[in-house]
This record gives sequence, C-alpha cells and structure tokens, in this order.
Amino acid sequence: MKKTIKDVDVSNKKVLVRVDFNVPVDDRGNITDDTRILETLPTINYLRQMKAKIILMSHLGRPKGAVVEKYSLKPVAKRLSEILKVPVKMAPGCVDEETRKIAASLSASEILLLENLRFDKREENNDPEFASQLASMAEMFVQDAFGTVHRAHASTEGAAKHLPSVCGFLLEKEILYFNKVLEKPERTFVAILGGAKVSDKIAVIQNLLDKVDAMVIGGAMAYTFLKAGNISVGNSLIEKDRIDMAGEIMQKAKSKKVGFFLPIDHVIADKISENAQVKETRGVEIPDGWTGVDIGDMTINRIAPVILSARTIMWNGPMGIFEMDKFFKGTGKVAELVAEATQKGAVSIIGGGDTVSAVKKSKLADRVSHISTGGGASLELLEGKILPGIAVLPEKASR
Ligand code: 3PG
Repeated sequence: MKKTIKDVDVSNKKVLVRVDFNVPVDDRGNITDDTRILETLPTINYLRQMKAKIILMSHLGRPKGAVVEKYSLKPVAKRLSEILKVPVKMAPGCVDEETRKIAASLSASEILLLENLRFDKREENNDPEFASQLASMAEMFVQDAFGTVHRAHASTEGAAKHLPSVCGFLLEKEILYFNKVLEKPERTFVAILGGAKVSDKIAVIQNLLDKVDAMVIGGAMAYTFLKAGNISVGNSLIEKDRIDMAGEIMQKAKSKKVGFFLPIDHVIADKISENAQVKETRGVEIPDGWTGVDIGDMTINRIAPVILSARTIMWNGPMGIFEMDKFFKGTGKVAELVAEATQKGAVSIIGGGDTVSAVKKSKLADRVSHISTGGGASLELLEGKILPGIAVLPEKASR
C-alpha cells in the first residue's frame, strides 16, 4: 500500500499535484468529455479544505516539446473553474519566472494550473533539472494522474524524487481496484478482451491466462484466433504474423484449463459503413466478400452465463465496431451483462478508452464497479508491469 494524501499533513502547504487532464478538446476548444477532470475533484477539494496552496500540472496531447496553441490547458483551467465555482489561475508556462512568481504568491486554497508540461521537451525526457525546477515550487508532491503513471517523465517520476510524495484519491482508488482484481480476485474471474489487434493485447492475455478462470474474446482480434483454428473469416481484419501466436495462446489456455470463448457466430457487413448491407452468419464461418463487425446472438447466448456467474470481471476492448450504431449490439449486450453481474455482487472493472466509451454509450457507466481513467496505464497493469509513476511513491509504512 502506497502512502496517500491522508497519511501526511498537507494543511497550508504548497502542494504540487500531477493530474491527467489529457481530455478530448474539439477544434473550437471545447472539452468533449470532462471525466478526467471530474475524477480529480476529491483530491482537489480535499486540498482546498486543508487550505493547501495547489499547483496542478498535466500534459495534453502530444505536442512533442513545442508550444502548440491547440494543446494549451487554458480550456481545462476554465472548465475546472466552472465546476469548482472558484477562480483557477492559468500559468503562462511551467517553470518560467512569471509562473514561479504566481506559484509563490498563492494563498490558502488557491489553485494554479501550469501550462502543458509537454510544451517543454525536458518533460518526456525525464530531465532531472526540469523535475527539480517543478518540485522547487512546492513542499509536497501528490500523484493523481493514473492515466500517465506508466510514463517515466519529469512530472510523473522525476519530481517525486525531490519532495515528500503521496498518492491522491484517484490514484489510490485505481490501485485498490486493480490490486483487488489482479492479486485477490473472487472466483470465478472472467476477462473480456476485445479490440482490433491481438498484437496490442498479447502481453495482457499472457499475464491474465495465469489468473483468470475464463476469457471471452471479441472484436477484430477474435478473427486472428479463428484463423489459427482454420476457420474462414472472409474479409475480416486479421494479423497474419500473429496467427501462430494466437494458436499457441489457445493451447496455453487449454493446458491451464482456462475457458476460452471465441465467437461462434458473427454480424457481418459488405462494407464498414452505416449504410452497409448487414446480416448474421448463424455459424462460425464468414463467407468471402464479407467482414466480421460484431459478435452474433449465438455468441451472446453462450457467453451470458459465463459473465453472469462471475464474481470478478475485467473488461478491456469492445466486441465490434461499436462506434457505428449498426454494429453496436454485441458490445451493448456485453455491457448489460457486466452491469447485471455487478448488480448480483461481482466486482467489475472497465479499462481502455474504447470500452469506457462503449459503456457510456450503453448508459451503464454507473452500474459497473469501476471505470478506469487510464488507457495505456491500465493495459500495462494488466500486463503485469511495474509502473514508474507508482513505483517511485513511498509505501505506507516507510517514512
Ligand atoms: C492517456 O491518455 O492515455 C494518457 O494521458 C497518457 O497519454 P500519452 O499516451 O500521450 O502518454
């Protein structure tokens, strides 16, 4: 267990908080999903109650060390201020003289948001001088950017080495949920994995095969597995160079007695378009000229009891091209099943941007146990990796 914000005295202290405000912003500068901002409110509100002087820092997008106006955090400062109903000061930079002056003059409970950390190339290089300059503005460091803790950057790893450091409430919650599922899962434990590519999920599958009782596979990556079993997949997306590996994974699942549920029927389309001609196969083979775009009804009926009897569920990756309403049904059904299992007492974690969007599209986000704010970070945790932004934080027992 990592030391948290509750284990230290933050009152009246100058606190540097790494948040993940990497939110989607449209061409007109509007934030289209503010979940990541809302999820940091417990930490920010607590610090305000404790009369801390709060310096928030984040990246937005991938400007690669250049100042790119569309990646400015100004819209985020505005949105945060609207949500909190208090002013949020926007810094001109990160460690420049003017920014340092504003940081030094903050009064109790005031908030300053630094400009995009990635406008300075030293951030991603984990430059020690940049890290120390960031840290020198504060007396304490709070890590609450779960979405970015898999990056060893100056603000996520470097700065923590210069200050007494703790987890914020969001990071604490994410760690608790992932630990619960990965270390002490109540059984049966079912992983539902989807998405386009097997290659993106190989490390996750390998790691989870040692932990789960059953694995449900959907999305385009299922077609590479089917191909490995000599099943025709028509024009569906497959990764030719991963077919052998898919076969080995299925062998491993068998030897470990992990239930491995591939689709047994499909929704197929003549093209990937909302006005495509669409039908269901009613069997596992996909005819030539057709592309698999979703799981079919037989598959849903087969996996329903598996999901409904689970006590622990980890879901990462949609079952089809859920963004198009025509191909949403399978993913939507799985969301319903996960919600129903959760209602019956299962712990369910939803990870990965697409899966989170799919659950939100189903309007079931409040009926699962935990929606992770991390895409890459949650995948790396599922792969069994140590995340540098967490590793650097001290344990509860240590001083
Ligand atoms: C994310 O959106 O996954 C995080 O904010 C990390 O962003 P990055 O992949 O650009 O490092």
